[in-house]
Amino acid sequence: MVQTGKGTRTNNQDGVRETITVTDNRTGREYELDITDGTVRARDFRQLKAYEGDFGLMVYDPGFANTASCRSAITHINGEQGILEYRGYPIEELAQRSSFLETAYLLIHGDLPGAGALEAWTEEIRMHTYLHESMKQMMEAFQYDAHPMGMFVGSVAAMSTFYRDAKNVNDPQSRHDQTIRLIAKVPTIAAFSYRHNLGKPYVYPDNDLSYVGNFLSMLWKMSEPQYKPNPTLEKAIDVLFILHADHEQNCSTNAMRSVGSSEVDPYSATAAAAAALYGPLHGGANEAVIRMLTEIGDKSRVPQFVKHVKSGEGLLWGFGHRIYKSYDPRAAIIKRTADEVFEMTGPNPLLEIALELERIALEDEYFIERKLYPNVDFYSGIIYQALGFPVDIFPVLFAIPRTVGWLAQWREMIEDPEQKIARPRQVFVGPERRAYVPIERR
Ligand code: CMC
Repeated sequence: MVQTGKGTRTNNQDGVRETITVTDNRTGREYELDITDGTVRARDFRQLKAYEGDFGLMVYDPGFANTASCRSAITHINGEQGILEYRGYPIEELAQRSSFLETAYLLIHGDLPGAGALEAWTEEIRMHTYLHESMKQMMEAFQYDAHPMGMFVGSVAAMSTFYRDAKNVNDPQSRHDQTIRLIAKVPTIAAFSYRHNLGKPYVYPDNDLSYVGNFLSMLWKMSEPQYKPNPTLEKAIDVLFILHADHEQNCSTNAMRSVGSSEVDPYSATAAAAAALYGPLHGGANEAVIRMLTEIGDKSRVPQFVKHVKSGEGLLWGFGHRIYKSYDPRAAIIKRTADEVFEMTGPNPLLEIALELERIALEDEYFIERKLYPNVDFYSGIIYQALGFPVDIFPVLFAIPRTVGWLAQWREMIEDPEQKIARPRQVFVGPERRAYVPIERR
């Protein structure tokens, strides 16, 4: 017997419906399931039942390694070919020709803005860079040596208490307002957390400067009347921001969508996404790379370190990716940006070790077999360090631009009629029902 699944019917290029036939060997029944955009609907497997009253077959996929959780029109990655595109535009072209705020507009609204729209967008963001004074006081209450990323996560979450209208997630105007506020204020929160960590007074935004120029001013201005950002530095950070703006369904974006699917306000969801980014397997990797290179200490010790990684005693931080199975295109651009930065700052001594590590790893069977290549975090930390940033702030530098991607993905999720509250199933492996034993008999 052939039973038909409920997936949306799709045809291949010749107009033929694409399906898969599954035989359930427990019952001998056959099921024809639709294939839509190269996927089958996990829910279609529920009709495979071994006996009357059976719940139906589920799919098991720890870490969502082969599960599409949404349909998205924002970012496209081809991991085999090392391709990354935002809304159809190659990352190389955006890094070379666009600006971070223009790219942010593209990610949020779907198309590149015209000159008038870009000006209005830039102006709107510029007008919202200040934090409420109570927010500043709240940040001042953190421990003197608090990790800036912990401060960032906590402060973004606290924003929901200042903008109570943010809970109206189904109101497009509210979504717009919170989008602008978040993009405008995350550099201020990041800079305050950096200054706090150094014991320096917070610097208020200077709205005469560009998005990145103002951020640098809030980081580094001292007693001068106006901070003048170095254009090479300003451009390098702008490019790094473009490269980090979105990366489809990674761990933190998945957190944004998953938490946001409960229809909580976007500040709480963004804080959850930032917390996910903080981990060393994700946005914390650039911090881990610097610690690793510092520990290696000298080019001559690289072979010994690689041997140690291959014997399973540790990871080569900044290498490997769930999706990229060839060179991460962002790493290639960062490597080029690094040359421009080092021309200005002088070389970072860790660069020599990184280059040697990359050279040896890319020739080694262990890394070749597993398709492990440098990812975005391998070189970004080296640039940040050359620019004078302490390692603790690295994940925060990632979180500022990624806020744009989180918001674009959150908005798409809210507007998608097919999306539901994120609620995975489980395979229960605990004990069968048993009787409660009073404490004196245990
Ligand atoms: N060093 C050494 N071995 C590695 C590494 C690495 N960096 N990454 C993966 N492997 C090995 C892993 O041990 C496994 O080997 P085996 O097949 O013998 O068990 C194989 O390669 C496949 O790895 P996996 O852990 O199944 O791959 P994954 O897709 O689950 O993990 C990853 C992806 C990025 C978490 C992982 O490659 C990793 O931990 N890399 C280091 C941390 C890092 O650089 N993270 C930044 C990622 S890019 C930016 C971002 O997302 O924020």
